Order: sequence, then structure tokens, then C-alpha cells
Amino acid sequence: MRIDVITVFPKILADPLNESILKQARKRIDLQINLVDLRDFSSDKHRTVDDTPYGGGPGMILKPEPLFASLEDVFRNPKDQSTARVIFPTPQGKLFTQQTAEELSEIDHLVFICGHYKAIDQRVIDSWVTDEISIGDFILSGGEIAVLLMVDAIVRLRPGVLSDIDSAKTDSFQNSLLDCPYYTRPEVFKDLAVPEVLVSGHHQKIEEWRLNQKIERTRLRRPDLYEKYLTDNVEQQKKKKVRRK
Ligand code: ADE
Repeated sequence: MRIDVITVFPKILADPLNESILKQARKRIDLQINLVDLRDFSSDKHRTVDDTPYGGGPGMILKPEPLFASLEDVFRNPKDQSTARVIFPTPQGKLFTQQTAEELSEIDHLVFICGHYKAIDQRVIDSWVTDEISIGDFILSGGEIAVLLMVDAIVRLRPGVLSDIDSAKTDSFQNSLLDCPYYTRPEVFKDLAVPEVLVSGHHQKIEEWRLNQKIERTRLRRPDLYEKYLTDNVEQQKKKKVRRK
């Protein structure tokens, strides 16, 4: 897998991309992450990458020339462009979810463009961007943190990154449910006991308890997901009935 990140602030990304799961991923699978410094593609001696907006108003806009030049450099081999996705993180985009992470984890070449200041020139979006993605209804000061978040969620789903693939399968959202609580030794800590069922050794009861906890947590904390879970389950039951007939 190859990931290119075009940014005015490569330092924000360098350390986090070399830590934790991403560090492991880079050791375990063929993952190449290139940080592209947008200023290297500026053509003036001040390494300018932004300018004021046409029509006036506050804020600066990332200029098209350095962004086009950096993207042309990323796609030096034009064949690469046909299968790659070019992602622009923006509050104007479609919401990033576990489903987006799953879909993007199947793509071998991702290019992220980090916006900064007020916006990027729309011609860059129109000419290059395949996906505009938002990580939530709030405004960050730039795209870098959104990219880190997405890269983490995407890369961990590539086969071979997690040592125990089951831990990704039971994660929250994989089936529209939040995850259940977990405990480890000691069985009683400061008078706080682990739920009895978990030390009963009764696997079926444990699975039932975990599923009930997931359902109850989702109902209380995320009514929107709970509705989806109910709808999906009704659909599944209907399909099972049809198959039985
Ligand atoms: N850039 C600034 N805010 C953002 C957001 N909410 N999602 C993605 N990119 C952003």
C-alpha cells in the first residue's frame, strides 16, 4: 500500500505516523507513506503556497500551481492515477465512518491533500479530488489531524497489520453496535468485583452477556446506531426465514 500526504506542515504528521499501530504496520506489511512538502513545489523564493480569495473576504486560499505540481509529481507515472483515490479532508465532505475505512483499506494507493487557511482553490478539487471527506461536524485548523485519524483507521484493516484479526472483527461499529466492557485480573480490586458471568466459564452465557451489554450501551448512548442495528437485524431475520422456506 502506498500513501502520499501533501501538506504545508509535514512535521505534524512525521512522528505520529512512526508510532504505535502505524509503526507496526510499516514493519509488518508493504506500506510506504510519503510526506510531500507543498512548499517544495512553490516557484518563488519565499516558497509561497497561498493567496487572497477572488471576490474578497477574510482568510487565505491554497494556490493551484503548487498543488497541481505536487500532484503531477505524485503521479509521475500516469498509470498510477487510474486506481488511486485522491482524498481531500474537509468539513464539506461526506462523513468518515467505519464503512469508509473498510472501503479505502482495499485501495492500494491513497493520496491525501491537507487543506489549510480558509480553503484550497476549487480547480484542484475539480481536477484531482475523488473523495471529499469530513471527520465530523467541527472545524479543525488544517487537514493533518483528519488525515492521521483516517490513515490509522484505514491501515489497521489491511490484512497482516493486526496480529489477531478477530480483534478488528469485534470492534465497535463493525456490526452497528458499540463494544461491551472488558475486565482483566484481579477478580476483585478495591472492593470492585468483575461481573460474575465472566468468571463462570460458561461460554454461551458469556457471549449472551456481551451481546446484551453491546445492545444496551448502543441503545442508551447512540440511539441512531441502535435504530440501524434493529433495522439490519429485522432484514437478516427476514432473509433467514426466506431461506428456510
Ligand atoms: N478540516 C477542517 N475541519 C475538518 C473536518 N471536520 N473534517 C475533515 N477535514 C477538516
